[in-house]
Amino acid sequence: MMDRKKTIKIVVAIVIICAVLAVLGGIFGPDIMYHLKNRGALGPLTREDIDYVTSMSYVSSTMHANDRNSYITDYLEQDPYLVNIYQGFGFAKEYGSARGHEYTLEDVAATARPHALANCLTCKTPNFTKLVNELGVSVYTMDFNEVYASMEQNISCYNCHGTSARNGGQLVITHSYVATALGDDYAGIELSTLTCGQCHIEYYFTPSDKETMMPYSDVEGMTPEAILAYYDTMVMPDGSVGYYDWIQPGTGTKQLKAQHPELETFLQGKHAKLLNCADCHMAIEMADDGTVYYSHYLESPLSNPTILSTCVQCHGDTDMASMVKRIQDRITDKETEVGNKLSRLKDELTAAVAAGTKTEAELDVIRRLHREAQWFFDFCYVENSEGAHNSELSTHCLEVAEARIEEAMMLLT
Ligand code: HEC
Ligand code: HEC
Ligand code: HEC
Ligand code: HEC
Repeated sequence: MMDRKKTIKIVVAIVIICAVLAVLGGIFGPDIMYHLKNRGALGPLTREDIDYVTSMSYVSSTMHANDRNSYITDYLEQDPYLVNIYQGFGFAKEYGSARGHEYTLEDVAATARPHALANCLTCKTPNFTKLVNELGVSVYTMDFNEVYASMEQNISCYNCHGTSARNGGQLVITHSYVATALGDDYAGIELSTLTCGQCHIEYYFTPSDKETMMPYSDVEGMTPEAILAYYDTMVMPDGSVGYYDWIQPGTGTKQLKAQHPELETFLQGKHAKLLNCADCHMAIEMADDGTVYYSHYLESPLSNPTILSTCVQCHGDTDMASMVKRIQDRITDKETEVGNKLSRLKDELTAAVAAGTKTEAELDVIRRLHREAQWFFDFCYVENSEGAHNSELSTHCLEVAEARIEEAMMLLT
């Protein structure tokens, strides 16, 4: 008798819990649930949180991925010379294009590139950012898989707005290395640019504690020349001078790998003093209740008519899509040409090393030119706008790379 009563009680309890969940799901809908999960406060929910998030569903609903930002282009297939120039480094194994912020955790786990340490999570999840802010830089050297297991969210509110998502959308720089790297210039950069620049930057891991760091101490130091000089003069823990990401097998060149210098490229470009990243990548939209807000669907201005319509103020009736396309075609054609030349240089240098007909001193002069050529090429190649952010800088990088390749080839023949 007692057992049956107990069973009935349990069944009733389950029915009540299901009913409550169904009602909550119905009231809040999938967007609200998404928003609660992603609001980035990363603590227990309060009634205030729920009210706030309910009123903000228009923001979170724009953070979902869709077919405009969910595909990956395989760069190694598109530009086969990359496999040769990145030989000996992870990017020769796998290198696909970026996609939307909703995929960061999935993509970092799936990559074939080696990632032993947790520092690879720096730009993927607010949970990691918060961990660094609470526990300090020691978190960077923790085991990747161990830390990954406790990561819950893709990039979200905390990354750009801090713990208080209820601050009305104020922007907060949560990635601590940004202030370290920018010094006095930190306060001079618009927040709607710098929040994106927390991740869309060139960076390295410090040799001593593997902390994520940007290779300069002010905006002036963001040119590819200045960054190269920064790496060249870096003192390593063993007392040697000069930073490199890997020594390339065959050539013996101490190579650098550029990341995605969108902030650096944009700040040296023609829009730097006129616009911020949000102006071109976040459309201003209106909710049903008349609230005007920034769409958090970060996309190409060319695929969003609302963003595209803002170019008119300065560009008049120029067809912006074709204007951008012309620049990108010019840059990508030149990239293919210089990339293939770089690949040939790598082969020639490998052959010269194997032949043993040149002295180490002679080879080192050529290796130096090779390192510089690859650095300048990469600084342009890995920048995600393909010339649209700053065509002069992209062109300059490719021209410097080409000149270094020609100099090295002369010495080889
Ligand atoms: C990648 C960075 C980023 C993330 C992630 C992000 N925001 Fe924003 N948010 C911005 C930027 C940039 C603006 C525009 C602010 C400006 O230019 O003044 C903004 C504006 C806002 C505003 C001001 C009102 C509006 O829409 O114009 C609110 C509120 C807001 N965000 C809430 C959120 C919430 C809630 C989340 C998480 C679901 C979130 N944001 C995630 C960058 C971000
Ligand atoms: C916390 C780090 C971080 C911040 C902050 C951040 N991003 Fe990103 N962003 C990423 C990463 C990582 C990817 C690539 C994700 C992937 O491929 O899985 C990405 C991808 C993108 C893409 C590519 C989408 C596509 O379809 O190719 C755009 C556009 C973008 N971000 C714009 C922005 C803008 C604009 C801001 C500022 C409002 C911003 N991001 C802030 C890390 C960040
Ligand atoms: C004047 C407008 C403008 C500003 C300001 C701007 N961008 Fe862009 N961005 C573009 C254009 C145009 C493209 C090329 C889009 C395409 O190929 O469809 C682009 C491409 C990108 C991409 C690649 C996205 C993709 O879908 O391929 C990323 C990431 C990006 N920008 C980030 C940033 C960041 C971060 C900032 C601020 C530091 C910024 N942008 C400032 C116009 C702008
Ligand atoms: C506040 C004014 C302003 C707005 C708004 C503006 N631009 Fe520009 N843009 C400029 C100026 C100034 C130049 C430099 C023109 C020159 O040197 O001939 C420029 C140049 C460009 C270039 C060439 C950059 C290069 O380095 O070659 C592109 C691409 C571009 N704009 C895209 C856009 C897009 C796309 C939008 C809208 C999403 C936009 N711009 C909105 C002022 C603006």
